[in-house]
Amino acid sequence: MKKKAIYPGTFDPITYGHLDIIQRSAEMVDELIVGVLTNKGKSPLFTPEERVEMIKDAVKDIPNVKVLAFDGLLIEFAKKQKATIIIRGLRAVTDFEYELQMSQTNRVLSPEVDTIFLTTSLKWAYLSSSTVKEVAAFGGDISKFVPKKVAKQIIARYSINK
Ligand code: COA
Repeated sequence: MKKKAIYPGTFDPITYGHLDIIQRSAEMVDELIVGVLTNKGKSPLFTPEERVEMIKDAVKDIPNVKVLAFDGLLIEFAKKQKATIIIRGLRAVTDFEYELQMSQTNRVLSPEVDTIFLTTSLKWAYLSSSTVKEVAAFGGDISKFVPKKVAKQIIARYSINK
């Protein structure tokens, strides 16, 4: 049977840290679905469609990666996609408590779906989407954090909003 995994997140926007997890986990499974959460409480900078398009462009050279938007429960999305693995990245010990609770809840909701944690590469351990947005909002250089096209879109969004 094909091994299918979901890498879920808000991805507002995708960063090199997320791409590191995508690249590494795509090598472990037959198909990796990047699940873009649409109904998040945070007020996102980009629409779900924009986030999906940005990720699609960033992963276009990885053949077994698909990008889809989802809302509602992650576990329902996983079932619908016939995925049995959820991939999550752990950046620091501060991520652990939330991730543990989430993976245990998901396992109670659906015991056939398991969560695999990858430790984020040291190079990207400090990174988060909010940090990137904050640096961009104050006119800082974000080229080291996100792909070129994503950086362009972030900068454009902030200059429109000014
Ligand atoms: N590199 C860079 N940044 C990373 C990262 C990595 N490897 N891993 C996480 N981050 C950052 C993200 O950019 C994000 O930054 P931000 O808060 O500044 O936007 C932050 O860490 C948290 O992102 P992430 O870990 O992707 O979580 P999320 O909050 O975006 O998404 C879901 C979490 C989508 C998995 C979760 O909310 C969910 O499953 N929701 C669906 C509803 C559901 O099923 N709920 C029940 C679950 S118990």
